[in-house]
Amino acid sequence: MNGARKVHIRSFGCQMNVYDSHRMADTLAPEGYAETARAEDADLVILNTCHIREKAAEKVYSELGRIRALKRAAAREGRRLTVVVAGCVAQAEGEEIIRRAPAVDLVVGPQSYHRLPRLLERAEREGAVVDTDFPVEDKFDVLRPPSREATRARGVSAFVTVQEGCDKFCTFCVVPYTRGAEASRPVAKIVEEVARLADAGVREVTLIGQNVNAYHGDGPDGRPWTLGRLLARIAELPGIARLRYTTSHPCDMEASLIAAHRDLPSLMPYLHLPVQSGSDRVLAAMNRRHTRADYLGAVARVRAARADMAFSSDFIVGFPGESEDDFRRTLSLVDEVGYAGAFTFKYSARPGTPAADRPDQISEDVKSERLYRLQAAVDRRQAEFNARCRGRSFDVLFEKPGRHLGQIVGRSPYLQPVQVMAPTQMIGEVATVRITEVGANSLFGARVPAPMENRRGAPSGAESMLVEG
Ligand code: 5AD
Ligand code: SF4
Repeated sequence: MNGARKVHIRSFGCQMNVYDSHRMADTLAPEGYAETARAEDADLVILNTCHIREKAAEKVYSELGRIRALKRAAAREGRRLTVVVAGCVAQAEGEEIIRRAPAVDLVVGPQSYHRLPRLLERAEREGAVVDTDFPVEDKFDVLRPPSREATRARGVSAFVTVQEGCDKFCTFCVVPYTRGAEASRPVAKIVEEVARLADAGVREVTLIGQNVNAYHGDGPDGRPWTLGRLLARIAELPGIARLRYTTSHPCDMEASLIAAHRDLPSLMPYLHLPVQSGSDRVLAAMNRRHTRADYLGAVARVRAARADMAFSSDFIVGFPGESEDDFRRTLSLVDEVGYAGAFTFKYSARPGTPAADRPDQISEDVKSERLYRLQAAVDRRQAEFNARCRGRSFDVLFEKPGRHLGQIVGRSPYLQPVQVMAPTQMIGEVATVRITEVGANSLFGARVPAPMENRRGAPSGAESMLVEG
């Protein structure tokens, strides 16, 4: 449309930022903003930022350097380019961002996105505006739902925020400060959103929250519901073939959630359950509120409920005071659980968190060396897991055209990309695939008859994909 304004949104960090970026686009669409993938074409650039580690936060400032040049170029052409910093860096640093990067017109925290149109008007009138207030209104209730067209454009797999914030206060983590206290969306709102997504062709939904299994949203009966109960309700919605949830805390793996893994064939047998460290001493210093044995107990309970479960995790190396012996306990935990994958991070001191002030910080060299060893252990386990997939059959949800002509690509229950020769009309469908080859980044397979996910009584892939405990 001629004369329409264009917005370019770039997300850093977690899946909740991706979700929030979509909601920002949905909120701006009725104001006449169309999305563009190119910052060069935009009238409005939004950087949706991450503050979890120093590197993530610093990326924003280097990106702002590039945007400043674009802003100057636009001004020379007589155009105005408005620059917005959103997300957790916005929340944590507020006005400091405008001091460091004067090209920024608006700094907006995650609780204020529904106010975006009004804030943009204010920034246009008054110059730099900062809004990092925690909500007076309920953010979840006022955010605009996506249009049917927007949903279709985003594919067959979607994220839905069900919970935000965290009350756990791990001593390394900024989330309780940037995202605030735990808050859960009411069941009815979530069901409504998922039903709308299903209606627009979405087949897989991942429920997201910083501490998603602490979910306690109001149910239709006026009582708080657990995540397990919510999953069971969503599993009843027609069209939704697959359910996932992330990210979980080991202390909140309660009975109804374990039961959901036993009872819901559409709940995928793959759980991201961050542990951070395998050493009880470090876990205590991190204020994780669980021991290594508690964690292994949670893993065992989920496996007892569903035999084909696989796990992934997050690990931090070089937490203040971590000894070589502590670190070896982390290595041995990787082997004991046999993860199908994991994210590994060097500890990054975050201003305002208790661990940042500890005098026993670990040197960069030691952190690098431990990261290398841990990553090698994780890679080994992941390669073993992938290799065990060869010759087995499981259900794949096809998502998009593949790498080569005639191929389409989908995801296994374990989120591995699977390339298959099949017509593009199968995108959006679940079909059983026999894995014939295991590559570095994908699996390759061929279709076999009878989709197992739809077969009553048989959990997805259970006969064919056993993971030993
Ligand atoms: N330093 C390094 N990694 C961190 N994480 C969170 N805070 C820090 C930090 N200060 C990691 C944790 C968490 C993941 C999202 O990021 O492993 O689970
Ligand atoms: Fe951060 Fe997760 Fe710990 Fe909450 S539970 S403080 S989000 S690491």
